[in-house]
Amino acid sequence: MLGAMIRSIVILTGAGISAESGVPTFRASDGLWENHRIEDVATPQAFRRNPTLVQTFYDQRRAFLGQVEPNAAHHALARLEAEWSGDFLLVTQNVDDLHDRAGHNHLVHMHGELNAALCTRCRAARPWRGPLIGNPPCPACGQSGTLRPDIVWFGEMPYHMDRIETALAAADLFVSIGTSGAVYPAAGFVELARHAGAHTLELNLEPSAGTPMFHEARHGPASVLVPAWVEEMLAAD
Ligand code: APR
Repeated sequence: MLGAMIRSIVILTGAGISAESGVPTFRASDGLWENHRIEDVATPQAFRRNPTLVQTFYDQRRAFLGQVEPNAAHHALARLEAEWSGDFLLVTQNVDDLHDRAGHNHLVHMHGELNAALCTRCRAARPWRGPLIGNPPCPACGQSGTLRPDIVWFGEMPYHMDRIETALAAADLFVSIGTSGAVYPAAGFVELARHAGAHTLELNLEPSAGTPMFHEARHGPASVLVPAWVEEMLAAD
């Protein structure tokens, strides 16, 4: 599809775009996520049952962000946003800050962010860089022992859904990058975009659960596929 026919782009990214930066994906073949079952660290029930385990797990992942850098795929998407003449929205399922560090003005983190804390008492979400273990006070209400990672866990409502659905309804092109298509509502975005008349493209290491729903799929590492696709888009813009 030629760039000249496309004005509005919506991009969805998942863990695969950060894999080559050294951030582990969720659904490795052993079914474990950094030696934990996802249910033991990524549900409100798990947090109630064992807050120390959950806080420690996310504290370690937050600290790990200091050891990783955006890769060529993150940088290519930042370039696309900066140079694209039409509308652009990047929706990420990732809780890392690699898209942010690559540089975006039109980015939403639908599953929250490692670098933010949410107060379970006053509901304020604030930037947070250090550990949450040790019950630091909420910067908004001052209460101690009420902060949790600002991460959307299984069973919770993803963020920014109104903005995302509005953008999908107006999209000419929907591109899904590095996601297994296993988790809704993100896995349903391709159908919403198709229904709205958008062309749909998957860029993933391998065929995903959602591949049959896309008009077009390209398979390979994001650090190769994404810069090549961005070149195509900007050349046709
Ligand atoms: N380049 C492109 N794709 C890759 C690469 C790579 N270098 N490495 C892995 N992938 C692909 C995998 O083939 C897989 O299809 O990225 C996908 C990662 O899938 P998941 O681990 O399931 O991650 P994701 O789709 O982001 O998970 C969705 O699940 O646990 C929740 O909330 C969590 O946001 C997460 C959501």
